[in-house]
Order: sequence, then structure tokens, then C-alpha cells
Amino acid sequence: MIDFKDIHFIDNPYPALKELRSIGKPVWHQELQLFLAAKYSDANDVLRNKSLGRIFIPRSPESEWFEYNYLHADSILDSEPPKHTRLRSLVAKAFNRQRIEGLRPDIERLTHQLLDNIQAKGGEFDVIADYAEPLPVKVIAALLGFPDSDEYLLRPWSQSIVKMYEVNPTEAYKAEAKKAAKEFAAYIHDLMLERLEKPGDDLISELAQVTESGEKLSTHELIATCVLLLNAGHEASVNGFGNGIVAAYQHPDQWKLLQSQAETIAATAVEEFLRFDAPLHFFDRTATADTEIGGVEIKKGQKIVSLLGSANRDEDVFDNSDQMDLTRNPNPHIGFGAGIHFCLGGPLARLEMSISLPELFKRFPTLELTGTPVRRTTFSLRGYESVMAKVK
Ligand code: HEM
Repeated sequence: MIDFKDIHFIDNPYPALKELRSIGKPVWHQELQLFLAAKYSDANDVLRNKSLGRIFIPRSPESEWFEYNYLHADSILDSEPPKHTRLRSLVAKAFNRQRIEGLRPDIERLTHQLLDNIQAKGGEFDVIADYAEPLPVKVIAALLGFPDSDEYLLRPWSQSIVKMYEVNPTEAYKAEAKKAAKEFAAYIHDLMLERLEKPGDDLISELAQVTESGEKLSTHELIATCVLLLNAGHEASVNGFGNGIVAAYQHPDQWKLLQSQAETIAATAVEEFLRFDAPLHFFDRTATADTEIGGVEIKKGQKIVSLLGSANRDEDVFDNSDQMDLTRNPNPHIGFGAGIHFCLGGPLARLEMSISLPELFKRFPTLELTGTPVRRTTFSLRGYESVMAKVK
């Protein structure tokens, strides 16, 4: 059975995932004590089935895990209706297509600034640290009103917390996550108090007003929502962009396409980036009643994982599923999930990438990657630490 921590598996999980799909139904993983849904139809059903919920189990001892626990239990992602419906509807307005489209000029400006910085550096740069990471971090920070001067804190806090999504997190990951959760929660709490006194034109101020009215949003829910948005608002976008760039470079015909017509193919290219090498792979659900997925019975209390990256390579749904095709259309990948937890930030992630991808190739048409990109050693959140590139 798959060892999700095996470095060789993480390096290229697709052959093993293909084998898993060939079994044709969800498979029990003895060591992890859960089912794996690898086929598109099963992975998609897992996310949509109302008897399968995102059930967060608080970590103990509570005194050590207090902040970490409420950052999850009180967040949109780790709650179920009716709480999920209430929390999601409070922020959904801010992320609707129309409001997100209004951010286009800001995203274009930030993109050009980053490209200017890269150009000023001359030869080599890191696609992750110099481009893929700062754009979504700056955009989500600005949307929430997170101070520019403290932006450097965001990715380390976020990475420490999301490492807990890995299969069987290590003791070191746990210690890091507890510390980051405490610091991040305290920081957002202070910011909320500041914005209550001096509201700005940002989401934290908006949510702080709702909290003050005492009805719809508790203080912990506000903090959890802001932390989730700040984390989810950049983590997958950074990895999605990096994974796509490396994969395209490994497919020289697709790289040429980007060099010659990135603007024309941007919309389909972004979707294929997310399908071909998904930034998020492993999302579990717990059965709240006996239920059936792909002909297999999931008993109440048992867990089943939706393997998004595997679903997106399913040969029953995608022609030449192991081929990157930046003009692929239709492309019904489930990289943004499905069902009630469907990604709230999809329009924002798409807008950012559909601007930053063509602009990179417009500015540097002869862009080449150099050296070997360095992979992160995590599977659930799959991405690169660094991807060096050279501009002429
Ligand atoms: C390429 C980038 C992104 C990808 C691939 C992605 C993917 C996902 C996936 C798969 C889920 C569902 C998890 C589950 O069902 O258990 C999700 C949920 C979520 N995403 Fe994203 N996401 C991205 C960017 C963003 C951005 C930019 C934001 C900005 C705020 C965001 C905010 C959220 C939130 C708040 C949820 C929870 C929704 C809920 O539980 O109702 N995401 N995302």
C-alpha cells in the first residue's frame, strides 16, 4: 500500500496513484485506517456526499493546543452546516466574481512591480520566492488589511500550521504548528481590536464590526476565519503556479506555447496547471452515517480520503490524462474541490494566475529554468521550495 511519506512517492506520485485507480473502487489503507478514493467519480462523490463531513477532532491536551484547536473548529473549512453555512455566507460576498474582478488593476500593478524587481536583479531569480509567492501573499494581505510591514510573517506561520494536514505529522511539525497557531491567533486578535477602534476599508474591519454586534460571529470565529483566508489565500496558489511552471518546462512543446502565446492560452493553461500537478492532494471526510462510495460501504465513523491529484489524472475522464495540454478544453478538474466546501477563493486564484502567467512570458520570452527544482517533502500540499530561472 502507498506510503504517503516516502520521498520517492512524493517525488512522482502519479504511477502509484494510477495503480490505485486501476483497482476501480475505494481501497482500505490499513496503516492509516481509512479508505482512499482515487478515481475521479469516487473522489468527487466523497466531496459531495452529505453523509460525509469534515469533522475536526480537537488535539489534546487542550491547554497546549487551545489556539490550534479553535483556529480549526471555528473555521469555515472545518465546520459543517449550520455553522459552515453561517460562516461561509459572511465572507462569500467579499470573494464573489464581481468584487474579485475589481482587484484586477491592483493585481496587474503588483505583478509589474515584481517583474521590475526581477529585471533589476539581472540574470537569475527564484520563480517561487521572487514571483509565485509574493503575489498571492500581497493580494490576500491587502484584502484583509494585514499590514505590509508584517507580511514576512505570513508564509512561515501558514506553512507551520498547514504541515499538520500531512499524513501522520511528525513531533517537530506538531511543535511548530502549536507555536505558530498561538502567535498567529494573538496577532489577529490585536489587529481586530485595533480595527474596531479605527476601522479601515478591509475585510478584518468589516468582520470586526459583525463581531461587535455580537450575533453572527464570535471573536474566535473571526480569528479563525481571518487565519484561514490568509493561509488558504496563498498556499495553494504558490504551489499551483510553481508546479505548473516546472511541468511545462518538462514538456518543451508546452513551454514553447507559453513563450509564443501565453496571453491567448492563459485561461486554459491555468486550469491545466492545477489539473496536471495539483497543489492539494489529500482531503479526508468522516461518515456521519453508513454510506456507499463506488460500491464500497463506509461505516459511520470511518474516514475516506478524496485524492484530488489522482482524480485529475483519471483516464476515464481526461483524454491523454498523463499529458500536459495547456489548451485542454473542457477541463473538469476538481483541484478546487466540490460540494459545500468548494474553494471560496477560486475566482481570486484564477484571476491572479491568469495575469501573472502571461505577464511573466511577455516580459521574459526567453525564460529558461536552471538547475533542478527543489521539491518540498510534503504530499498533501505538494509544491516546490525553489525553482531557479534565468532571464536573458
Ligand atoms: C490555486 C489555488 C487554490 C486551490 C487549488 C484551492 C483549493 C481548495 C480546495 C480543494 C478546497 C476544498 C477543501 C475540502 O473540500 O476539504 C478549498 C477550500 C477553500 N479555499 Fe481554496 N484553493 C486555492 C486558492 C484559494 C484562495 C486564493 C483563497 C482565498 C481566500 C481560498 C480560500 C478557500 C477557503 C476559505 C476554503 C474553505 C471553503 C469551505 O470550507 O467552505 N482558496 N480550496
